[in-house]
Amino acid sequence: MIFRQLFDAPSSTYSYLLASRRGGEALIIDPVLEKVDRYLQLLRELDLKLVKAVDTHLHADHITGLGALRDRTQCITVMSERSRVDVVSMRVADGDRLQIEGVDLDVLYTPGHTDDSCCFRLADRVFTGDTLLIRGTGRTDFQNGDARAQYESIFARLLQLPDETLVYPGHDYKGDTVSTIGEERRFNPRLQVKSADEYVELMRGLKLANPKMMDVAVPANMKVGFHQEEIARRGWAMTAEEMLCSVARPDVVLIDLRERSERERHGTIPGSLHVPYPSLPESSGAGGMLHALARSTGKRLVFYCAFGERSAMAVQAAQDAGLSSCHLQGGLAAWKAAGGHVEQ
Ligand SMILES: [Fe+2]
Repeated sequence: MIFRQLFDAPSSTYSYLLASRRGGEALIIDPVLEKVDRYLQLLRELDLKLVKAVDTHLHADHITGLGALRDRTQCITVMSERSRVDVVSMRVADGDRLQIEGVDLDVLYTPGHTDDSCCFRLADRVFTGDTLLIRGTGRTDFQNGDARAQYESIFARLLQLPDETLVYPGHDYKGDTVSTIGEERRFNPRLQVKSADEYVELMRGLKLANPKMMDVAVPANMKVGFHQEEIARRGWAMTAEEMLCSVARPDVVLIDLRERSERERHGTIPGSLHVPYPSLPESSGAGGMLHALARSTGKRLVFYCAFGERSAMAVQAAQDAGLSSCHLQGGLAAWKAAGGHVEQ
């Protein structure tokens, strides 16, 4: 496996780059905006294709690199379904799998530091965001933080993992890079409590100053969505209402770009083909399945995904490949809101 722990000194943030092999797909956890050029350089050097950029939670101390990475690599942006961000391409919940080629992470919903905090677990390690830090825990005094929920997330979820599980946190302010679950259970001063009440008391007594970047970072991080208006201005978008009238038309073919897990959980628009977003360049290029379908039938490709981000980027790629296409603005969420039928 390719694994890199990357550091942003001004915010003491760790970001993590994961891939199963050179030449393969990559995923990045908690990228920082100012470091995006560095990540892109590293991706080129390691011959990796970034397919997912993931935030463990809505950050208050740095601006996320999610939007910039998406704009520059067309990757999928991922956050919790609880996140109050405008749009991310894909939202995950407890028990979901976060997958790229050869890398398979379990999603653990671990509220407490914020109400959208998640941890991501790979076989021998867990990326804990700001839920569990090395000899510390993430503060719980703003952004819908909740010390009692954090106690549960740590004690009932993270500390149930095997002792030897490596802990890779979202920050470290002292220069530590990695710990283990067993080590944190024994030596993390915040975890030497006998009850949730005691933990809540401990957290209440911290009296921390707000992060320097908070007033800038939180609003900025809530607006990471892809600008779908430009796609609409070019006539490449369909509203859910327009789509309701045209699904049965013989000259369009509907294409679902989401992953299998999303299709199973949220249902699909009846009659749509499944072409997962990462396979789109291959499929819409010369010799690809979608390319052949569009050319041989003359049908217009109508892409959709969860919220319209992946589909908006897909339209751009399909138009570049010379294929007549548009997308469902707002994705399946807009379709459901307009009363569209879904098949489970
Ligand atoms: Fe945080």
